[in-house]
Amino acid sequence: MREMEERGQRSNRRLVLVPCPFQGHITPMLNLGSLLHSKGFSIVIAHTHFNHPHPFGFPNFTFLSIPDCLPKDVLSSGDAAAIFASLNTNCEGPLRQVLSDMMAQDGATESKISCVIYDSLMYCAEAAAQYVKLPSMALRTSSIGTQLIFSELPRLQKEGYFPAKDHSSKDPVPGAYPLRCKDLPLFTSDPEPMMRLIATTLDIKTSSAILWNTVDCLEKQLSDQVQKKYHVPFFSLGPLHKVAPASPTSILEEETECLSWLDKQANNSVIYVSLGSLASMDEREFAETAWGLAKSGQPFLWVVRPGSVRGSEWIELLPEGFKEAIGDTGHVVRWAPQKDVLAHRAVGGFWTHCGWNSTLESISEGVPMICRPCFMDQNVNARYLCHLWRVGLELEGDLDQKEIEQAVRRLMAGEEGKEMRLRAAAFKDQIKLSIEKGGSSHAAIEELVNFIISL
Ligand code: UDX
Repeated sequence: MREMEERGQRSNRRLVLVPCPFQGHITPMLNLGSLLHSKGFSIVIAHTHFNHPHPFGFPNFTFLSIPDCLPKDVLSSGDAAAIFASLNTNCEGPLRQVLSDMMAQDGATESKISCVIYDSLMYCAEAAAQYVKLPSMALRTSSIGTQLIFSELPRLQKEGYFPAKDHSSKDPVPGAYPLRCKDLPLFTSDPEPMMRLIATTLDIKTSSAILWNTVDCLEKQLSDQVQKKYHVPFFSLGPLHKVAPASPTSILEEETECLSWLDKQANNSVIYVSLGSLASMDEREFAETAWGLAKSGQPFLWVVRPGSVRGSEWIELLPEGFKEAIGDTGHVVRWAPQKDVLAHRAVGGFWTHCGWNSTLESISEGVPMICRPCFMDQNVNARYLCHLWRVGLELEGDLDQKEIEQAVRRLMAGEEGKEMRLRAAAFKDQIKLSIEKGGSSHAAIEELVNFIISL
């Protein structure tokens, strides 16, 4: 009863959430919104025009579109540092305006904006909030392990370890356990602007707290270590897709019929293959992947995102004879309902690029992984998965069908895979406990609610 009353009182407290317009960032922010809405807050999503989230699954949220004026040439350059610089420069003014307008409308009413919660890559929101004298908090959508190594990059650059000269070197990086040279973050463009972007996102300026999409049973020790560098509370709330009421967060349309295909497969028999929303491969890698999967003899569900095979629209470059060779053993889709796929009893392994969302989603369902990181934080996540948490095996070097075939067999049918599946299942149980009453994420969520009310 008291909880319901408190919840009712919170509905005139609005939270303005500012997501970063990429799938791997939009999902955790919308999930955070759903979570805080379930605690009684009103949610406003202030989003860019570019890659805007779909409002239809969130009838109780208010969606406000911010003109980002992102130049086409900047976007098509694929240069992440330039894209984020442009987004932040262009969105700060409109964000200030949106916040001032909302505050003016609140006027004499009971309603008020409690705070602005922004993806740390949308750091202009902190400046906009400060300008209109509102508190703000940063949401980090990558791991704490990634943040730790990001903060060490200037030192490693001085010492000559970063950017790594040899991307296959297994030499340890001093002061960066468990990372080896090959596990350092990999930037696809000039490192200097990326280093500046990282430094900007690490400096939370006037923000009152950092919210993490992570969970103590994976990163408690790291959280304690990183928190020493900040003077604000940390809240490890995740996995956000598990603590928030389920809601549709995909920008692309999900091909849900693949779940019926999974229904026809045996328990733990299917390897699910996806490189997330940004990574891509060339024609040779695509053909090697296709034959590696086919020759493994293991049923597979493969996401080939439109445009993710360079030089083609979708699957036109599949090698001749592949479709006939696989028959009904394999199923290819443009975009899958990934969380449902990973939770399906038929899925026994995940070949992943190790984006942080995919990492959390797989561990939460007890699914062991083949780790094939592509760029940025993915190398770091892969190292934690394979070396510390020991729920993944690395697929290294140039993609080669023989090695793919072996990796799939090792994970799906070998002793090593069986042990990883057991460890992943243990993490699944621990995560379940973490989000239940008495668990670390459950407690962090309650603390966050009280913290927001105290602002
Ligand atoms: C990016 C970065 O690459 C990643 O390293 C960073 O941690 C977050 O931002 P992305 O590459 O898209 O994200 O990977 P990931 O973090 O795994 O996010 C992908 C999301 O798309 C996941 O939530 C996944 O469930 C979803 N997805 C992917 C689908 O819903 N269907 C698909 O078919 C594929």
